[in-house]
Formats: sequence, structure tokens, C-alpha cells
Amino acid sequence: MKKVIMQIFRSAVTIVVVGSMAAMIFSLRGELKAAKARLAADPGVLKTIATRTSVRMFDGSRPVEEDKIETMLRAAMAAPTAVDKRPWEFVVITDKEKLDALSKVHPNARIENGSTLVIAVCGSLDNGLNGRAKEYWIQDCSAATENLLLAAHAIGLGAVWCGVYPIEERCAAVREVLAIPEGYMPLNLVTIGYPAVHPEPKDKWNPAKIHRGQW
Ligand SMILES: Cc1cc2nc3c(=O)[nH]c(=O)nc-3n(C[C@H](O)[C@H](O)[C@H](O)COP(=O)(O)O)c2cc1C
Repeated sequence: MKKVIMQIFRSAVTIVVVGSMAAMIFSLRGELKAAKARLAADPGVLKTIATRTSVRMFDGSRPVEEDKIETMLRAAMAAPTAVDKRPWEFVVITDKEKLDALSKVHPNARIENGSTLVIAVCGSLDNGLNGRAKEYWIQDCSAATENLLLAAHAIGLGAVWCGVYPIEERCAAVREVLAIPEGYMPLNLVTIGYPAVHPEPKDKWNPAKIHRGQW
């Protein structure tokens, strides 16, 4: 009788051990499947970063589609900002007359370069942070601009950041052309289009720039 009970006990233990091992294997397989799916869905952000270059010549016969403009703006607005203030405004310019006027303000926003789209990234001087943190709008809008540039590249467009702020005469001229109200500052003009050139990405990796622990 005792022998039979022991045998039943051993069988029960075996079932529990084998069962939990099978559950572990199944759950591991599930996790591996999810990881694989995540990798497959990865948009290749590192590749996008590594292959982005400034593009200054565009195919003027191919205007940028509205949904692509929204994709870039969504990426821009996904950027981090200090205290999540999001002190940005974006002026989207496709109008030929306005593009022409911007050409005169900024050499790299030239319509002769085939540019059919310019997005002016502007910062809010009053709706961000105050005091010593007021200037964070520059970093916030710069983060948005980088996201915009990366998104442009990721969807097959070319773009270049054309600096405006803090060059006073450029700020004033862009403000006038785009009717930017007081309290807002144009940080840059991002010229965007289908690339007519495909520059080689620069290798900027420089380990000498890295200081570990302290400078
Ligand atoms: C703040 C800032 C201002 C810039 N202004 C201009 C500009 O006025 N004209 C221009 O052609 N490129 C401008 N650029 C783009 C740089 O020239 C470019 O990023 C740099 O040469 C590195 O090349 P890459 O973007 O192809 O890696 C600017 C970039 C930054 C970040």
C-alpha cells in the first residue's frame, strides 16, 4: 500500500515538473516570437540616423504630399521638451510666392534649388519656461527639428536645416515674410523635397570627443 502511495506521489511530482518546464518553454517561445515581431516592426531608427545627410538640391517637379508633411510634423511634435512645455509652432510654406520671398532671405531656402516646401520651426518666447530656463525653447525646437529631419529622410525626402535664430536680420526678415507675431521667434527654415542629389553620409564618429568619468 505504502509503495503504491509513493509511486502515485512520484508520478504527481513528475507531472508538475514536466508541466512547469513545458509552460516555461512555451512562454519563452512566446517571448521570442514577440521580440522577433518587435524587431521586424522596427523602423530602423539607427539606420535612419546613420544615413541622414543635409540635402540642398531637390526635384522641383515633385511636390511633397500632404500626408508626408503631417508625418514629419507628427515626428517633430514627438520630441522631448523641458517640463513638457512644447513651445513650438510650425509654419508650412508651399506657396510659390512665399517660397520666392524666403529665397531672398536665406541662400539655402532658394527656389532655384528645387525647393517646394519649407517648414519654419518657431519657438514661443512666452509659453515656455520663465526665468533662467526661458532659453530652453531653443533646445526644445532643435529637438523637434532633428526629429523632423530624420522623419523626412525615413520617408524618402531630403531636407536641410537653414539657421535663422540668433541672426537678427534673418529673424526680422523671416518674421516679416511669414507674418510671425511678437512673442514667437523663427529658429530655422527647413527646406524639404524629393532629393535631386544623394550625398554620402559623413562619418563623424570621433572617440577623442568622449570623456569618461570626468573630462
Ligand atoms: C543650427 C544649424 C544651422 C544650420 N544652418 C545652415 C544653413 O544656413 N545653410 C545650410 O546649407 N546648412 C545649414 N545647416 C546644416 C549644416 O550645414 C549641416 O548639418 C552640416 O554641414 C553637417 O552635414 P550633414 O547634415 O549632412 O550631416 C545648419 C545646421 C544647424 C544645426
